[in-house]
Amino acid sequence: MRDQIYIEEIGKHVGQEVLICGWLYNRREKGKIQFLIIRDGTGIIQGVVTQADGAVFEEARALTQESSLQVRGTIREDQRAPGGYELQIKEINRVQRVEGEYPIALKEHGPGFLLDHRHLWIRTPRQAAILRVRHEVMQSIRDFFDQRGFIATEAPILTPSACEGTTTLFEVDYFEDKAYLSQSGQLYLEATAMALGKVYWIGPAFRAERSKTRKHLTEFWMAEAEVAFCEHEENLKLQEDLVKYVIERALARRARELKELERKTEILESILHEPFARVTYEDSLKLVNELLREKIAAGEVERLQWGEDFGAPHEEALGAHFGRPVFVEFFPAKMKAFYMEPKPDNPELVLAADLVASEGYGEIIGGSQRISDINLLRARLREFGLPEEPYTWYIDLRQYGGAPHAGFGLGVERLTSWIAGIEHLREAIPFPRMLYRLRP
Ligand code: 4AD
Repeated sequence: MRDQIYIEEIGKHVGQEVLICGWLYNRREKGKIQFLIIRDGTGIIQGVVTQADGAVFEEARALTQESSLQVRGTIREDQRAPGGYELQIKEINRVQRVEGEYPIALKEHGPGFLLDHRHLWIRTPRQAAILRVRHEVMQSIRDFFDQRGFIATEAPILTPSACEGTTTLFEVDYFEDKAYLSQSGQLYLEATAMALGKVYWIGPAFRAERSKTRKHLTEFWMAEAEVAFCEHEENLKLQEDLVKYVIERALARRARELKELERKTEILESILHEPFARVTYEDSLKLVNELLREKIAAGEVERLQWGEDFGAPHEEALGAHFGRPVFVEFFPAKMKAFYMEPKPDNPELVLAADLVASEGYGEIIGGSQRISDINLLRARLREFGLPEEPYTWYIDLRQYGGAPHAGFGLGVERLTSWIAGIEHLREAIPFPRMLYRLRP
């Protein structure tokens, strides 16, 4: 619309007559006044119509929840109104009237019902706020890498081989052949890093994980970076800088959304001012088993053994103990993927780290230095029972100018959930894919 304005910029138009295009979120009638709560995707404003307005009053009365409309009126500052502004409505142009009951009435619904109606659920203020925080996470990741001279590059989704183990592959019939949906773009980013120096991408990742937890999606988005001539320490520094940058941006630019989500932002702010904690896998094992001693004794939680990965309770205990993000470093080689560089003073371990967030949000980043020696890589493929053939091009990277390099993958939904302070990853992506959930 020619003179349409958006609700988020309403403050610039006080005293002016404006046109707002959107949807009716709610309507209340109080004697001779009606309050129309209108949303336009950028925010919510309260519109007011009085009986003296005649036909407009009747038009307002006929509006139903989520009907689309265009309203013209004057903006007034009003501290009592939600958002601090009010629209004195002069004209209503109904675009489409919702007939019958809107499925998501303004009351409590169960998660199953809401997920079935995800296409409508995302219109509610809380869900829209989360998606705006997600946008900020995505955009700030791009800006961070861009400012540091990284080249955005892409990895294929259809792949002939596994990156993160063969147990979570989604198989696709690729003409007469088999292909797999990518679990991670890493192997391809290693190739583009050797071509372009430092690269990143934000792309979808697929894991046929049968785990039905709050922290697992079968399709999620990962921000991955790969840097040639980069080693373990520098890799961790890059991750810490990135996470702090994203948090700082969200706090600065999405304060309104975080308030809507009732996020306690002091906790996020405090993280910006101190270095992330670090603990070796070996020490973290002892620590977690000690922290969870009572629960282990009561049989509620498993005691972790050498070589085992953390489950949700272990990650939560670790996060709570440090009260800030913590890098868990140097895992046993056998519990991680085939491509990780051994630790020089103890080749049983690898130069890898997972970043565990605070407040129980669990692992948000997995990263490592990659093997640069061709013979070692071949040996590792054999040890992991992987055939060489689909990886010949990957082995080539060590044949032709092999160099130390490192990188990581950050789970976009995990980081968004943590920043937004939401419980379940399913709300941090527009259309979640989970075990038993493929619709809408
Ligand atoms: O630790 P992961 O498996 O690491 C990789 O895939 C590496 N190849 C990345 C790299 O080095 N380029 O996964 C990275 C991150 C995890 O820390 C987690 O945040 C997220 O991806 N993630 C998931 N998020 C949602 N649902 C799942 N099922 C996830 N699995 C991993």
